[in-house]
Amino acid sequence: MSLGLSDSLPIVKPRIDLRSDTVTQPTAAMRRAMAEAVVGDDGFGDDPTVRELEELYAELVGKDAALFVPSGVMANQIAMRILTQPGDVVVTGTFAHVVAFEMGASARNAGIQFATIDNDAPALPVDDVCRLIDAEFDHVAKVGAIVVENTNMFAGGVPYDLAQLAELRRHTNIPIHMDGARLFNASVATGVSPANYAQSVTTVMSCLSKGLCAPLGSLLAVPENLLDDARRERKRLGGAMRQAGVVAAAGLIALRDHVERLHEDHERARRIGAALESVVSGVLPVATNIVALEHPAARELVNALEHHGVLTGTVSPTRFRLVTHADISDEDVEYVCQRIEDIGPLRESTATEE
Ligand SMILES: Cc1ncc(COP(=O)(O)O)c(C=O)c1O
Repeated sequence: MSLGLSDSLPIVKPRIDLRSDTVTQPTAAMRRAMAEAVVGDDGFGDDPTVRELEELYAELVGKDAALFVPSGVMANQIAMRILTQPGDVVVTGTFAHVVAFEMGASARNAGIQFATIDNDAPALPVDDVCRLIDAEFDHVAKVGAIVVENTNMFAGGVPYDLAQLAELRRHTNIPIHMDGARLFNASVATGVSPANYAQSVTTVMSCLSKGLCAPLGSLLAVPENLLDDARRERKRLGGAMRQAGVVAAAGLIALRDHVERLHEDHERARRIGAALESVVSGVLPVATNIVALEHPAARELVNALEHHGVLTGTVSPTRFRLVTHADISDEDVEYVCQRIEDIGPLRESTATEE
């Protein structure tokens, strides 16, 4: 195999971590704010910092209210539980996070099943969604909700197409949940405001702990009529917290100060994507902070880069992924591009080579 290296090479410095934007460290300003946060028991609604964060997010996405939860998975799971009934079908992409990367949580927590559509695209095809909804009769389960992912992680961080989203809303009257784990990346890349994206959906969640650098936490925004249900489901899933203002304080800084700089991550991802494209075919268009490659030698590329001290990953046996973030510098990007060029062309077939 022509990966330009030997298995016996030791891992070298520098260690550049591109496995995910979740690896970012909370900043000094976040750590200070966490230490000084005014807190209370959020179980009684008494934490002013949590309330401020929830109100800020609700305002940014144009919804009535929001809930602070420990993780993106929990936000998605609460949405599944408040929008559907056990036995319902949820329509989404084949490799949507809620389907492929949550350990079957929706089946376990909400008792739903998925009907999936190929999602290596900026939007779910509206006709395909409508066909699944129209299939409902006495033998076919009811479609309870639709999930759209923005940005679409598996497709390489592609923002959801706004016109298609409006079209989906116009042609269906089923609740839509937006998994906006990286909604702010989508917004910065396209110039579409988070509220504009969220206008066509019933519920929307975003993660604070990815490109926005907070140590943990996500927010789920809901309409007023679903707020009590959402709070109940958060409690049932063990996500109701107490003096959570300690972490919400970092979340406030994430939303206020870290959105604007996301374009730097996008530019760095574009540079790495171009370097990768110069040695291999199958690189997906880079729109935000994710570089994805569909290739039979995806895992070999991960191993080859690791030998050079660059950590990346795969999201399927043939899909390579790396993610840029705030803890990556221009020098790191230069180093990664050079190592990609050194590694050179990857084998094109799945046949094992001697
Ligand atoms: C698209 C998407 N949705 C949801 C999540 C879940 O977020 P968390 O890791 O905070 O549970 C992720 C995390 O990587 C994600 O990429």
